[in-house]
Amino acid sequence: MLPPLRTVRAAFLGGFMLIFTVWLTSTYYVTGRLAEAQARSASIYAQFLRDQELLFTISRQVLLGSVYVRDALIESAEQSAAVAHYQIRNLQAQVERELEHYETIDSSVDAAAWRRLEKELRDYWETAARLTAPESASRTWKAASSLLHTQVIQQREVITQLSDEIRQMMARDYLQEEKQLNDVHVQLRRRLWETTAVAVILGFGVAFLATRYAARLEAQIREDHAEVARNRGDLQRLSERLVRVQEDERRTVARELHDEIGQALTAVKVELAVALRSVGADRRAVAALAEARMVTEHALSNVRDLSQLLRPAMLDDFGLPDTLKWYLRKFSDRTGIRTELVDDRLSERLPTDVEVSAYRAIQEGLTNVSRHAHATSCRVFVQRLPSSLIVTVEDDGRGFRAGRDSTGDQGAGLGLVGIRERAVNLGGTFRIESGDKGTRLTIEFPLTAGAQA
Ligand SMILES: Nc1ncnc2c1ncn2[C@@H]1O[C@H](COP(=O)(O)OP(=O)(O)OP(=O)(O)O)[C@@H](O)[C@H]1O
Ligand SMILES: [Mg+2]
Repeated sequence: MLPPLRTVRAAFLGGFMLIFTVWLTSTYYVTGRLAEAQARSASIYAQFLRDQELLFTISRQVLLGSVYVRDALIESAEQSAAVAHYQIRNLQAQVERELEHYETIDSSVDAAAWRRLEKELRDYWETAARLTAPESASRTWKAASSLLHTQVIQQREVITQLSDEIRQMMARDYLQEEKQLNDVHVQLRRRLWETTAVAVILGFGVAFLATRYAARLEAQIREDHAEVARNRGDLQRLSERLVRVQEDERRTVARELHDEIGQALTAVKVELAVALRSVGADRRAVAALAEARMVTEHALSNVRDLSQLLRPAMLDDFGLPDTLKWYLRKFSDRTGIRTELVDDRLSERLPTDVEVSAYRAIQEGLTNVSRHAHATSCRVFVQRLPSSLIVTVEDDGRGFRAGRDSTGDQGAGLGLVGIRERAVNLGGTFRIESGDKGTRLTIEFPLTAGAQA
């Protein structure tokens, strides 16, 4: 038993929504984290570059400072000392500005190392300034050289060493940060793979369920088709059987009417003729017997007509064209509607089933003309083709909306349905064309080996 379609549809929809939600949220999360990591990586790199630049500037200014001091000491002139002093103070101001600016930036390097560097720098600039003070011009070369080596160069070495340490620290921090970022990347990649795997598994699950459901549905549809085909076959057989039974019954009743009642009435008629001859001059008796003979004759004629209508013996004896001629004449007499029969190449007898079905179809068609069409004339056309018999009944009546269904299913009536059933039972077709200018029924019976009953 399959679950209801609505439940299945809701389940599939839910499944797909779940897959999409998993996918979307994970993609959103991963892209967000990636963007964050990228921004962080860019800012760390910029910081690293700034740190390097600062250290480089410090080293360069310090070196330049020591050059100015040396020049001033070598020249030992008051004026050059003043210029060097001024330049040194300038360099100091530049470095301090850089450092001040640097402090506002969040540096990753150990603050203690920076403080030590700042202190060493301050001492260095003080020493350099002292050595280029106006009185320094009076020093001897020897004293100046010793001062340069013991103070300036020594302090410069310390600063260079400290800068190197800080640079190493920065490089270490930078590498550490890079490693962390790399870890984040690895984590995100794993996360992406995990959610992709979950979504794929879910997708496979939904696809598997859908395929299984489709297979079950297909099996059920096949079963239903088989059952419908079985039922249709049963119906077809039943309808064939009904038509045959009806024909047999009509033939029996027609024969009974003709043979039993017809014979009895004929006997009564003969007896009445004998009685009439032997009754003599009794006028009342003569009149009564004559009346009785007339009634009997009338009844006999009615019985014959009825018997013919039920199942014309002439259909079996003389075939379709003669029976149709007789039937159309009777129809015109009865209804006042002009009839015309056109038969083409019907010299040979046809299979009984085909003859009977064609006759019944024409009978029903003409009955409908008289009952519904308000027609003044109608035409019956019977044509034999190499492999089929075409029967057409057309009238000039008011027509009807046959377009509703050209297969003969026109509502409550059974006449057209019966025609279609007979045609289908013999493997033929039935078509109705109807409009303002009348109605045409066309029935085609195949004359293949199977139809030769
Ligand atoms: N030649 C025709 N002209 C106009 N209307 C027709 C004609 N033939 C059939 N019809 C319409 O089609 C309907 C169905 O016809 P059908 O023979 O199936 O049923 P019926 O004649 O009403 O009843 P039943 O034949 O079962 O006694 C009719 O009621 C009538 O309205
Ligand atoms: Mg009818």
